[in-house]
Amino acid sequence: MIDNETMRSILARRSYKVFDPRPIDDETLETIVTAGLYAPTGMNRQPWHITVIKSPEGLERFARARRSLPLPPGIPPAVAAAMGDPMRGAPVMILVSAKDGGTSFEDSCLAMENMFIAAASLGVMSGWDHATVKDLFNHDPDLKAELIPEGYTLYAAAFFGYPGPSVKDRGERKGTVQYV
Ligand SMILES: Cc1cc2nc3c(=O)[nH]c(=O)nc-3n(C[C@H](O)[C@H](O)[C@H](O)COP(=O)(O)O)c2cc1C
Repeated sequence: MIDNETMRSILARRSYKVFDPRPIDDETLETIVTAGLYAPTGMNRQPWHITVIKSPEGLERFARARRSLPLPPGIPPAVAAAMGDPMRGAPVMILVSAKDGGTSFEDSCLAMENMFIAAASLGVMSGWDHATVKDLFNHDPDLKAELIPEGYTLYAAAFFGYPGPSVKDRGERKGTVQYV
């Protein structure tokens, strides 16, 4: 494998469950968001809208809604208790929503992955939040109206922050590859 800065960032990215609450400065955030905007989109539609939640009020409002979201069925109470803060201490949450139709889902996920890798290159880690994508705006339509444009669908949501104290390393890759 060729070792360069881009490959080091891709390999360094990890999904974190706990973040350090230290803020991410504006230039770093702007760099991360720019990486998202430079992802490819089907027919160059650029259908997305990126919402960066970083103010204490914005985070608190989001956290309140996120906390009131029922846990998925089947999670044992002890595990639920151990999950603690659903925001995981993260100082930033980024949402990617898009106009319906075309390749909006793919475009949004590619934008988020670009942001994950750019963040990792700057020492900032990330964590996809599936419960938010799947359920949060059905549960709290007012929050949806506050955070994304009307007629848009939320396709990707993730926490961003400097790494917290512990992470289970999931670095090993077991997928199959075929060269033909
Ligand atoms: C579509 C998708 C949904 C995910 N949902 C969650 C989630 O809700 N909570 C979580 O902690 N991690 C979530 N993850 C992160 C995965 O658990 C993580 O990417 C995987 O374990 C590999 O670890 P790594 O990202 O550190 O390489 C999700 C990842 C993807 C791609």
